[in-house]
Amino acid sequence: IQREMSTLPRVYVTRQIPPEGLKILRKSGQVQFELWDSDDIPVPRKELLQKVKGVDGLLCTLTEKIDAELLDAAGPNLKVLSTMSVGFDHLSLDELKKRGIRIGYTPEVLTDAVAELTVALLLATSRRLIEATHEAKTGGWGTWRTLWLCGYELANSTVGILGLGRIGVAIAERLAPFKVRKFIYTDVAPRPELASAINAEYVSFDELAKQSDFLAVCCALTPETKEICNKNLFSKMKKTSIFINTSRGGVVNQEDLYEALSTGQIAGAGLDVTVPEPLPTNHPLFTLKNCVILPHIASASYTTRDAMSSLAANNLLLGLRGQPMIKELKL
Ligand code: DGY
Repeated sequence: IQREMSTLPRVYVTRQIPPEGLKILRKSGQVQFELWDSDDIPVPRKELLQKVKGVDGLLCTLTEKIDAELLDAAGPNLKVLSTMSVGFDHLSLDELKKRGIRIGYTPEVLTDAVAELTVALLLATSRRLIEATHEAKTGGWGTWRTLWLCGYELANSTVGILGLGRIGVAIAERLAPFKVRKFIYTDVAPRPELASAINAEYVSFDELAKQSDFLAVCCALTPETKEICNKNLFSKMKKTSIFINTSRGGVVNQEDLYEALSTGQIAGAGLDVTVPEPLPTNHPLFTLKNCVILPHIASASYTTRDAMSSLAANNLLLGLRGQPMIKELKL
């Protein structure tokens, strides 16, 4: 058995992923894998560089930077990379392409969970839920007051989506029953098929800023979208508007956001993602009542994380067999 095992392709799994995925790898009998056996701390870089030496496949999460240094450390055996995430800004795509390494990722299975959380964050921010529970618990709740803890409602509002993809559509579908008046979006080009499903109008970036009562960022982080949400955007937004980001922290210039929130240029922000992650507890954004910050939990439902884990495992196994993956990122 030992001899048989040693001829199997070697895989390194950078995290204790949810059990479904590990079961699939184990039961496959197709690979021998080693695991960084913790969910609490990511594998230290030095350890990772050691562990990837000579592996045929790598299953990672969004906390591992897959760059030239790591790929060089892995060496030429590495043929398949499977990330348990829909985002791929932690991957150096050029370097992977250069080496002919195939990439699996996990779109679609997390769309519902992310859309749900985005709606929850939007409502928590616009109706000031975190501030309100704090007041209730700490003695701030005096008599019923006419304008105390007032926020902004979705009914009759314009909701803007920056980057219309599956997740943006799923968010709009969930918000529509709240009697949103109009959906608008911007992207590199109109996406009529997706937009028609939610009756959304394509507008320029500036119009998106000007018209949105709620602006939800749903784009991927790329060199083009890095810090696209900056002074220029915030200065055009309404003073009563709410900014929501469940994509990647890197799309926002956080100093500019702090400025916009603290000077009342916009009414509030809800962020599930920041730079860095975790955001240091002494970060200025944490001092603002009108900023709700979550620790990157948009896809964190049991069902979704199991589905992501299984998909990542299956992508890896299919890739190692030289077959099409279920979800492959084609470069
Ligand atoms: C992703 O998959 O990219 C999310 O950020 C975490 O689920």
